[in-house]
Formats: sequence, C-alpha cells, structure tokens
Amino acid sequence: MNKHFDEAYRILAANDRGGYTVPTDRLYPFQWNWDSAFVAMGFATFDIDRAYRELERLTEGQWEDGMIPHIVFHQPSDTYFPGPDVWRTSHTIPTSGITQPPVFGIALRAVHEAAETAGSEDAKARTLTLFHAALKWHRWWYSARDPEGTGLVALLHPWESGSDNSPAWDIALSRVPTSTETAVVRKDTGHVDAAMRPRDEDYRRFIHLVDTYAACGWNPVQQWEKAPFKVAEVQTTAILLKAGEDLLHLAGVLGLDEAAEELAVYNLLTRNALQAQWRPQLSRFVSRDLISNEDIDAPTHAGFIPLLALDLDKDIVDAAAAEMRLWSNGMKVAFPTTKPFVGSFEAKRYWRGPSWAIINWLLIDGLARNGLTDMAAGLRSNTVSAIETEGFAEYFDPITGEGCGGLGFSWTGAAYLCLAE
Ligand code: GLC
Repeated sequence: MNKHFDEAYRILAANDRGGYTVPTDRLYPFQWNWDSAFVAMGFATFDIDRAYRELERLTEGQWEDGMIPHIVFHQPSDTYFPGPDVWRTSHTIPTSGITQPPVFGIALRAVHEAAETAGSEDAKARTLTLFHAALKWHRWWYSARDPEGTGLVALLHPWESGSDNSPAWDIALSRVPTSTETAVVRKDTGHVDAAMRPRDEDYRRFIHLVDTYAACGWNPVQQWEKAPFKVAEVQTTAILLKAGEDLLHLAGVLGLDEAAEELAVYNLLTRNALQAQWRPQLSRFVSRDLISNEDIDAPTHAGFIPLLALDLDKDIVDAAAAEMRLWSNGMKVAFPTTKPFVGSFEAKRYWRGPSWAIINWLLIDGLARNGLTDMAAGLRSNTVSAIETEGFAEYFDPITGEGCGGLGFSWTGAAYLCLAE
C-alpha cells in the first residue's frame, strides 16, 4: 500500500457524515446520488458494511414513485444553493426533485460480490432490500422518463446527467428562459474560482427549470408535458442498461424469476435503442433533443459511454477507438469531456473539457468490455498517475494535468481505490 491509498481512506473518512459521504466539504455538503454509488464501490474494497450503508442511506431519500433524487439533504447546511426551500418537494426527508445517473445497480452488484468474497453473513438480506429499491427506480425510469417506450430515457434538467454544463446542452438549454421566481444566490463561486464553474446565465436557466417542475408538484406526467428541456440521453441510458444487466445478474443469484424477466425485457429494448444512436459519420453515439426532435451532435465524452453496456461489432469498436485516440492525442490527462479545441472546449470549466476520474472509470470498463485492453490499461494508468501527481481533485485540466475544482473529493478517492488496485 502506498501513501495515496492512505490519503484516499482519509478523504472518505473525513467526508463521512454518519453512514453517507458528502462529495466534498462545503461545496457539496449533502449526499449526492451517483457520487454515493461510486463511493460505495470504493468502500467495498475495504469495508463492506460501510459500502452497504452508503447505498442504504441513499435509499432513505427514495420517493414513493421510485425516483431516487440527486441530492438527499440529511442535515441542513447553508453553504449550498439551491437548498430544500428552492426544491419544495414533499418526501419525508428533504431531497431535490430531479435524479442522477443510475450507477446504483452497478454498485450494488460490486458490493454484493465483495461481501460474498468476504463471507459476510448478512450480504444476501442487505442486497435483497437494496435490489428492490433499485428495481423500483428502474421502473420509474421506464415509466416517467420513457413514457413512449422508446428504450432511451430522457432528462428534464441538465443536472440529471451529472455533467451539469456540458456543451451537449447548449442548444436545448438556450430555449429555457433565464427568468426565475426564486432569487438565485449562488454559493459555489464562494468556494471555487468562478472561471471553473458554470456561468450565471446557465444558473438562471437551471433554476427556471426547478421552478417549472416545482409548479407541477413534481408530478412526472405533468413535468413531461411542461418540460422546456427534454433530452433522450446516451450516457444515462448506457448506465441504466449496465445497471439493468447487473441487476439481472443479481436477480439470478437471489432467485427472483419475475424480476429477472422484467429486467430482461427492459434491457433488450434499451440495448436495441442505444445501438441505433451510433452515428458512423461522427464515430460516436448521440443523444436526442426531444423538443426539436434533432440529434445532439456536440462532441462530448458521453458519445463513448455506451461501450460500457454494449458488445459492439468490430468496425464500430475500431471507429470509436480511433476517435477516442484522436481526442486524447497530446493530452496530459485523458479523457477530455469535450473534444479538444472545438469552439465549446474550455480546459478548466467543469464539464466543458476537463477529465474526471469517474468518467474515466466508466470508459475503462467500456473499453475493456469491447476488447480494447491496451487502451483501457493506458487510460487507467493515466488516471491513477494524475491523482498521484495532483491529489484527489474534483477533476483535471486535460492539457496541463492540473487538479481543479474542489479538493479532497470522495469519488476521486473511490476511483483511486478501484483503479489503482
Ligand atoms: C456536480 C457534478 C455532479 C456531481 C456533484 C457532486 O454537480 O456535476 O456530477 O454529482 O457535483 O459531486
């Protein structure tokens, strides 16, 4: 064990707020959905009980309709905007009203397998409860976010993608008015350099969407009708499919035949739909703007995430790999979240260029799944050495390699524990 492992353990311990982990102190003082799923996989490498706890505490925020919110506000904090008063939701504990990529099912399988290996006695019971929560959430995705049964799930707010200010949203978001009922009092720029954060105008649009959905009483059917932003998204859909495969596997282990059948139907539908989003002329997959009914062809990392959940033909794999190599060429830390040097690329601004350890983690798994073993190994060692050089930053400037955003980040710690092993 080197000192970086110790540092990763120390960060997870420092960000522990009692069975759940904050992404980082002050900037993100609550429990975030997909952060916790990655963190649970990190915990599973050394503390099975704590790994389960992370997922269990997240499900305390699960709504009656199955949605697991993007933030669970377990305890008050005044260092973050927008807080519970802006979301105006009505769950037993305060939560946001939108969701985030469903990494949960992927994490549950990883935690379960680590528990089995460790001979943990209550593994099966704990997995079973969490399995039901996950299945309920997947049903919500298919009913609330794909009411027409296309197989692709849609996001109603850019934050649901986890890639908040990605250039992928520029056109769709520009239609959203900047007017808000809620006063926008940003706190993020008090913790981190404003040049690294989303712009003010975008923040007003983000809050306009929250106001719109709060006015629908967070009812999914009404939101679907009223949504001024609606994107059938490939990163989220690919994660949903991979999680669906992992849940299907767990259904087998747990002997849940009906759940297995249900998941197999979802997975088949989504596999075909996702496959159809490949664009040979771009050498990547694309999302779809459901308001304009057009492809979103902004060049972002999301176009390669489907490798995680699909077993692709060799010509597609070769084309995607060639395109990924092109984007990585000359980068100190791959993989850039926007294609370098196109107009929307900004090396330090959040999701408009920087490399993120958890995105690399998903890409590494996708490359490995599709037989690109060397590329997967290259990206893995690049990610590990970026962290060893710069520390557990929120993300990295791909050109200089500099660690940016918040420091002492939980999911960067978890990524290190899982990738450096
Ligand atoms: C930002 C990121 C999102 C993450 C959250 C907490 O909002 O865009 O992906 O979940 O911070 O780390």
